[in-house]
Amino acid sequence: MAMQNRRTFLKDLGVASLATALPLSQLNAKSISTPHKEVNIGLIGVRGMGWANLNSFLKNAGTACVALCDVDSQLLEERAQELETKTGKRPKTFSDHREFLKLKSLHAVIIGTPDHWHCIQMTDACAAGKDVYVEKPIANSIAEANLMVQAARKYNRVVQVGQWQRSDPHWIEALAYLKTGVLGRIRQVKAWADVNYGKGFDVVPDSMPPAGVDYDRWLGPAKKRPFNQNRFHGSFRYFWDYAGGLMTDWGVHMLDMVLAGMDVTTPKSVMAIGGKLAFPDNAAETPDTLTTVYDFGDFSLVWEQFIAMGTSPYLEESGEPGVAFIGEKGILAINRASWKVLPLQEDGKYLTEVLPPRRSYINGLDEHTRNFFECIQSRKDPNCTIEIGRDAALVAHLGNIAYRTGKKLEWDAMQSQISNDAEANSYLSPIYRAPWKLWEG
Ligand SMILES: NC(=O)c1ccc[n+]([C@@H]2O[C@H](COP(=O)([O-])OP(=O)(O)OC[C@H]3O[C@@H](n4cnc5c(N)ncnc54)[C@H](O)[C@@H]3O)[C@@H](O)[C@H]2O)c1
Repeated sequence: MAMQNRRTFLKDLGVASLATALPLSQLNAKSISTPHKEVNIGLIGVRGMGWANLNSFLKNAGTACVALCDVDSQLLEERAQELETKTGKRPKTFSDHREFLKLKSLHAVIIGTPDHWHCIQMTDACAAGKDVYVEKPIANSIAEANLMVQAARKYNRVVQVGQWQRSDPHWIEALAYLKTGVLGRIRQVKAWADVNYGKGFDVVPDSMPPAGVDYDRWLGPAKKRPFNQNRFHGSFRYFWDYAGGLMTDWGVHMLDMVLAGMDVTTPKSVMAIGGKLAFPDNAAETPDTLTTVYDFGDFSLVWEQFIAMGTSPYLEESGEPGVAFIGEKGILAINRASWKVLPLQEDGKYLTEVLPPRRSYINGLDEHTRNFFECIQSRKDPNCTIEIGRDAALVAHLGNIAYRTGKKLEWDAMQSQISNDAEANSYLSPIYRAPWKLWEG
């Protein structure tokens, strides 16, 4: 990306003439805060979402990508070349994130690796004095998520979690409407992901890793086992050693919006029913069908995941995963495409106004990476702090633990543990393969 100067930056935002007339300090828009210095960013995990995050971040004037790190050397080279073509500068390339983090010119790091790597790489990055944008779920266990909160605060780093709905005006406005109280008391919340992919996920034999892939480093702290294509790029998310299936993938995004809308952090209890009911013989370990029920005291939360048609109850306009808040006077339903209010009726009269669908109108990811960029400069907490990331990961992981144990679990938020089941507590913390160690503070 050719580096933009300040004038071009403002022009891109459609405020060029205003910018020539007013000093920047008088421009009353969060989106055009002054960059104080260049922010040199680096990316660990260059394939999927990490790459999307990097390209979004680089839309901000005053940013440059100085380094990339990946264990797939072929992909790493392709990405380095793409960046060189786009920006005229070739980033340094690394296969070991610890060498990458020694780079003094690096201010901030995006972590786009599979979930089982997030805790090690995030805590190492904080200890190395870098600010961090870490993908969701922030970790593959509740214990790791708690350590990551400690690391961010101990090293005083700006940490943004990739739950980008937190910066998207579409979600912010819908939740603000909910909080006006016009729907009355919210007694139940439903969140769902009906996805129409993952049906033909056939079992394939173990094989040699692709040329140029450091498979042992890809596994990292996870159990050693032969390479299998199904457990690798992209589809690692359906295997417990690396991720938590649809629950920690889509679930984290949607459950986060429930926590934000209801101003709560953790449930009192959770139970779950499900299994590999739709595709019992496919390659995935994680359930294709799962319903988890959480008790938050004042309201209940029901999460449903299934692989069917890609539908969105209440929101026929689009089949995105979503959330519905069910109140005394109406239901507010929202997904990434739109939100609307369905009023309840009594004696033929609506109890609240009908709100027709309001569509998403801006790129939420760009808002989120810009918020990270601004906070690197201002040193303020970003829109999705590590604590917010921990809470969403915790709720999702608890749902998976309830499913895996088949028990109703009580959560003790003070002790950060399950109070009624010792076996279930064994899922809270991962067992790392040597030489990798859980961060010790
Ligand atoms: N926020 C969102 O909307 C969103 C969307 C999709 C994925 N995600 C999250 O992003 C993360 C990555 O998912 P993905 O689908 O992009 O995965 P992916 O498999 O496409 O990419 C992961 C990359 O990390 C690399 N990698 C693995 N171990 C590494 C290591 N030790 N050091 C350096 N690189 C390593 C892999 O080689 C690969 O290039 C997951 O945590 C996922 O939940 C978030």
